[in-house]
Amino acid sequence: MNILVIGGAGYIGSCTSKALARAGHQVTVFDNLSTGHRNLVRWGPLFEGDCLDSASLRDCLDTVRPDGIIHFAAFSLVGESVRHPGKYIRNNVMGTLNILEAMRDCGVRNIVVSSSAAVYGIPQRMPITEDTAADPINPYGETKMFMERMLADFARAHDLSWTALRYFNAAGADPEGETGERHSPETHLIPRALMAVDGRLPDFHVMGDDYPTPDGTCVRDYIHVQDLARAHLLAMERLVQGEAGEGLIMNLGTGTGFSVKEILNAIEKVTGYPMPCSIGPRRPGDPPVLVADASRARDVLGWTPEHSDMERIIRDAWAWYKKEQG
Ligand SMILES: NC(=O)c1ccc[n+]([C@@H]2O[C@H](COP(=O)([O-])OP(=O)(O)OC[C@H]3O[C@@H](n4cnc5c(N)ncnc54)[C@H](O)[C@@H]3O)[C@@H](O)[C@H]2O)c1
Repeated sequence: MNILVIGGAGYIGSCTSKALARAGHQVTVFDNLSTGHRNLVRWGPLFEGDCLDSASLRDCLDTVRPDGIIHFAAFSLVGESVRHPGKYIRNNVMGTLNILEAMRDCGVRNIVVSSSAAVYGIPQRMPITEDTAADPINPYGETKMFMERMLADFARAHDLSWTALRYFNAAGADPEGETGERHSPETHLIPRALMAVDGRLPDFHVMGDDYPTPDGTCVRDYIHVQDLARAHLLAMERLVQGEAGEGLIMNLGTGTGFSVKEILNAIEKVTGYPMPCSIGPRRPGDPPVLVADASRARDVLGWTPEHSDMERIIRDAWAWYKKEQG
């Protein structure tokens, strides 16, 4: 396949580019490098451009003539989305609209899009199936929900084939150390905890230990980025083979939850360093537990997580962290 990876200079996009290239597919990355990195584009050429610039997108599609697009480009900091909703709506929603219009005009039919567990808000039933009502509680989640709806509308009107993948918590790094997480600021739990054991943060701040969970800290579902990458590859192969029919939304998670304390303990074990840690109040809007039911991805794509045991996730993240720190 000839695949255009929009947002391929970022964390999950670069891992997916590698998975596509390893499987023998041709990769081109379209990215404005707003949160991505030129030196993570290693598995195909970089077309530097912005999704908010329709002309640049069209130029890229006319040049590359891809069989399909995998679309990762979005801003994804929940707190920032609350403070600056316009920034999120413009980039995530308008950017996706431009991509869909460019696909329509340039005759590109297949698209796989990054969605998020953030669309579920605070669901009452665990594990979460895709039939759970989308009810996001912040602008970031709302942009992801709207992106999904735009896919369905464009598919109906313009004969596009689509899949939206709702990831739970992406974690880990390429096991060969070629790419990994490099966010600034870093807000994700595992890399922040690694910064704390390494002394780059004074301590790791646990936000609430009075939740109705076995040890009082929040429970989340962590999925290795290599498993996410493989799901994108399988989803795109399915679309390009023309087997897809109706567009589909699929959860990507392991179905197993880990509490914050369990992760901090696992990090101490893997790194061999003590975890400096302080306990603070809850963060508003954090549900106690979020765990995926990913049986649809298993049934439709034949996908199951293979690299997502917690020790493996932390080992790969730690190796990448040390490499990044030189
Ligand atoms: N990391 C997670 O745990 C997680 C969980 C759920 C969903 N997601 C979603 O997955 C996707 C990728 O996340 P990530 O962690 O790899 O983020 P990232 O910031 O590392 O990657 C996003 C990439 O998109 C590019 N980009 C952003 N806006 C653009 C624009 N207007 N034009 C061109 N390029 C643009 C950035 O430069 C960057 O390379 C995002 O859509 C995010 O919302 C991530």
